[in-house]
Amino acid sequence: MSSISGSNTGSTTLITNIASLVTNDSSLGDGSPLGLIQDAAVVIDGDRIAWTGDSRKAPATDNRVDAGGRAVIPGFVDSHSHLVFAGDRTQEFNARMSGRAYSAGGIRTTVAATRAASDEELERNVVHYLDEALRQGTTTFETKSGYGLTVEDEARALRIASAHTDEVTYLGAHIVSPDYADDPAAYVALVTGEMLDACAPYARWIDVFCEKGAFDGDQARAILTAGRAKGLHPRIHANQLSYGPGVQLAVELDAASADHCTHLTDADVDALASGDTVATLLPGAEFSTRADWPDARRLLDAGVTVALSTDCNPGSSFTSSVPFCIALAVRDMGMTPDEALWSATAGGARALRRTDVGRVAPGAYADLAFLDAPSHVHLAYRPGVPLVSEVWRRGVRTV
Ligand code: NIG
Ligand code: FE
Repeated sequence: MSSISGSNTGSTTLITNIASLVTNDSSLGDGSPLGLIQDAAVVIDGDRIAWTGDSRKAPATDNRVDAGGRAVIPGFVDSHSHLVFAGDRTQEFNARMSGRAYSAGGIRTTVAATRAASDEELERNVVHYLDEALRQGTTTFETKSGYGLTVEDEARALRIASAHTDEVTYLGAHIVSPDYADDPAAYVALVTGEMLDACAPYARWIDVFCEKGAFDGDQARAILTAGRAKGLHPRIHANQLSYGPGVQLAVELDAASADHCTHLTDADVDALASGDTVATLLPGAEFSTRADWPDARRLLDAGVTVALSTDCNPGSSFTSSVPFCIALAVRDMGMTPDEALWSATAGGARALRRTDVGRVAPGAYADLAFLDAPSHVHLAYRPGVPLVSEVWRRGVRTV
């Protein structure tokens, strides 16, 4: 079992000597969206935050921890990953770096490897990548199926994922299964019928890759609507490789997020600004596929809520590092360090429609990342440096 499990049910702990604390509560600290407090302290009661504020005003507690002048931020909320897989795609990556384009077709390579893997191997992989992410400060993560594409293999992926996180997404509609290459309609019927029935008990979300070479707008609508009728809430892989209907469909269906958002028309941006659908940007994918960056600045200036996540998967984005994604977003997508940090924490929480994670404020889970740095700005300022030196999850120090 991953070290991600376990929670503190007992005593109160004061964490003091925090050089700078990001709370993501604008009613605290400097009043900015990050709710920054300098020379701060945090009180944890059991698995929750009980108090945050100026260290000189901290209340008495059972235990006391000295942060040693480090910065503390909310644990990252990685709202988009694909961790249930086997094998890797090194050759495909090498070919891309020699000029070959990325296409959805590579997913088939991972489907074959995942189908051939034992339950134990898949479980080991999930634990491995979750621990890798945790060491880099991620305390909440979503993960999906999508590399099985049979009733049994999709349900198996979700069963394994659900042992490690509550944020589990059914993505039977990743691509049309190779077994149904001649009859995509029959595959959509399977995804919305028997496969959905087998998968729904393990999942909170339903997702579809709405893209040329995967599923078109009508198919995506049918898939998400069927999922909703079974109690799953929609999210969509939308507008990654080309312009298309995914983003506007996401807003129409009140999807929690439209993920990728790399190719957007003005109408797509307007739609996102008008609804509650979060635009989840996944710069690891553009990095690893040598594609043009999504334009975070355009979305933020239009008033769209933006999340930043890893998309960790063996094909398009084999990174579990949210700090790496923050650095890319600041350098190449027009985000400020403050915006990128917010998007990777509070933004991810919005994309999962959660209010109990992504902030360090009374009532939220005590999920914290300590940085060997005076402030969160160093995450982008010092790219590639392992600044996360301590992680608390649910009130327990886990790293
Ligand atoms: O989010 N776009 C679709 N799915 C993944 C890539 C999956 C793969 O290439 O294996 C993504 O980028
Ligand atoms: Fe993805």
